[in-house]
Amino acid sequence: MIDLKNVEMTYDDNGVKINALKIKKLDVKTGEKVAFIGSSGCGKTTLFNLISGMLTPTNGKVIVEDVDLTTLTEGERDLFRANHIGYIFQDFNLFPDFTVLQNVVIPMSFSKRYSKAEMEKEAIGMLKRVGLDGKKDQKVKTLSGGEKQRVAIARSIVNKPNIILADEPTGNLDFKNGAKIMDLIIQIANEEKATLLVITHNNSQLELFDRSINIEELNEAIK
Ligand SMILES: Nc1ncnc2c1ncn2[C@@H]1O[C@H](COP(=O)(O)OP(=O)(O)OP(=O)(O)O)[C@@H](O)[C@H]1O
Ligand SMILES: [Mg+2]
Repeated sequence: MIDLKNVEMTYDDNGVKINALKIKKLDVKTGEKVAFIGSSGCGKTTLFNLISGMLTPTNGKVIVEDVDLTTLTEGERDLFRANHIGYIFQDFNLFPDFTVLQNVVIPMSFSKRYSKAEMEKEAIGMLKRVGLDGKKDQKVKTLSGGEKQRVAIARSIVNKPNIILADEPTGNLDFKNGAKIMDLIIQIANEEKATLLVITHNNSQLELFDRSINIEELNEAIK
């Protein structure tokens, strides 16, 4: 369950205040699949960074799995994210000089739940699910865009998150590979019974979700 109340996010860019987001109320129920739409710059990534605790709002409450993230320290938020949230970032955020396997192991090393052998076993299991176990020892910088996206998916789900956030996961892919990646994300969310939030510009994908939310309409900061 995700519950945002009177959330405002103002960035400070060298003393210049940028009101990026103002949302009175946003609820997502456990297990729901929601698509987030809206034009470039309307605040979609900012919203995901607030839900994941990467950012804290200037005002308001961000309640995720019954925890108000705004009451946590940065370290507590990092741990909360490691244990509860899988985040597929807009620009992958992979380490290009690390191997595929090393990239997928990283979130498990934060959550401190596993030994090294367990982490590698889990990571290889995830890579199998996204069809990349054969490339586990290859450096990420040698992969195609779709393959990098699949590594990012494997990494995001390796800790069995309750919530998966995917920021334009098919934005850099052609139509066919984009459809394959979106099907894979939905299938994994179903199998894991995870709540799924996806930012997309692709209207043909909206039917895969329970509902869609237009952030341009919800965000009072840009009205
Ligand atoms: N770190 C930052 N410092 C200052 N302003 C920022 C920062 N990050 C985002 N913004 C501003 O906040 C607004 C919302 O940005 P955000 O990245 O959330 O948009 P978006 O909807 O994800 O756009 P896109 O579809 O292009 O990814 C924009 O005006 C952007 O310039
Ligand atoms: Mg964005």
